[in-house]
Amino acid sequence: MNHDPQDDGRDQPDVNEDATPRHRRIRSFVTRAGRVSPGQQRAIDDLGPRYVVPYAPQPGDWNALFGRQAPRVLEIGFGMGATTAEIAAARPGDDFIGVEVHEPGVGALLKLIGEQGLGNIRILQHDAVEVLEHMIAPGSLDGVHIYFPDPWHKARHHKRRLIQPKFVALLVSRMKPGGYMHLATDWQNYAEQMLEVLSAEPALENTADGYAPRPDFRPVTKFERRGLRLGHGVWDLMFRRR
Ligand SMILES: C[S@@+](CC[C@H](N)C(=O)[O-])C[C@H]1O[C@@H](n2cnc3c(N)ncnc32)[C@H](O)[C@@H]1O
Repeated sequence: MNHDPQDDGRDQPDVNEDATPRHRRIRSFVTRAGRVSPGQQRAIDDLGPRYVVPYAPQPGDWNALFGRQAPRVLEIGFGMGATTAEIAAARPGDDFIGVEVHEPGVGALLKLIGEQGLGNIRILQHDAVEVLEHMIAPGSLDGVHIYFPDPWHKARHHKRRLIQPKFVALLVSRMKPGGYMHLATDWQNYAEQMLEVLSAEPALENTADGYAPRPDFRPVTKFERRGLRLGHGVWDLMFRRR
């Protein structure tokens, strides 16, 4: 997956802002009509009914949806889902709610779920902000993963970045005390913003002195490996809710 979808050298139109001023919200993504492959479509048709949770503006009954009560981690923007599947396979005792708006990504993760028989993932194809606001109960998450969120390079697009004080406060409100928030980015300017915003949130404490070492459970992605070979940096952040 291209980690820099906005970096095409052209100005992006300010799309995706709700037309009614009362509900105007700047979103962290642009809806792209990505091509769904036949394999992804098959996975959506066959496995979607079981693993995709329809968005509804009310708290989900997650114990019923997973069929058990287990530590619960929310991942925002899983892209094509390779990291999500790898972590879920390595941590069968934990449950993972993956949120992604991009349809081919949803199909790709469903395909991995089917191929690997992963029972501990559920998918929501919807804006993570609304999912957090309405479907995730306060104080219910054991962990939050956000890996390589869109960096929105241009200064005038920084308002679209996910990691901002208000959004982090919303995330924290959904976490259990002691729950962890793990972020990673390959864009230094965004890493600095993440560190500043998370450090300023009174309910969070940094588990490291600044940036954290990559925890063993987060696999190095193909994209990241290539970047590292080219000398690009990757920054992990690991905070805990007090
Ligand atoms: C740059 S990609 C990174 C994907 C993946 N985490 C990885 O490491 O390869 C960021 C993803 O976040 C998704 N995304 C951005 N904002 C989102 C939001 N508010 N709700 C759900 N998904 C979002 C985008 O659709 C995109 O697929």
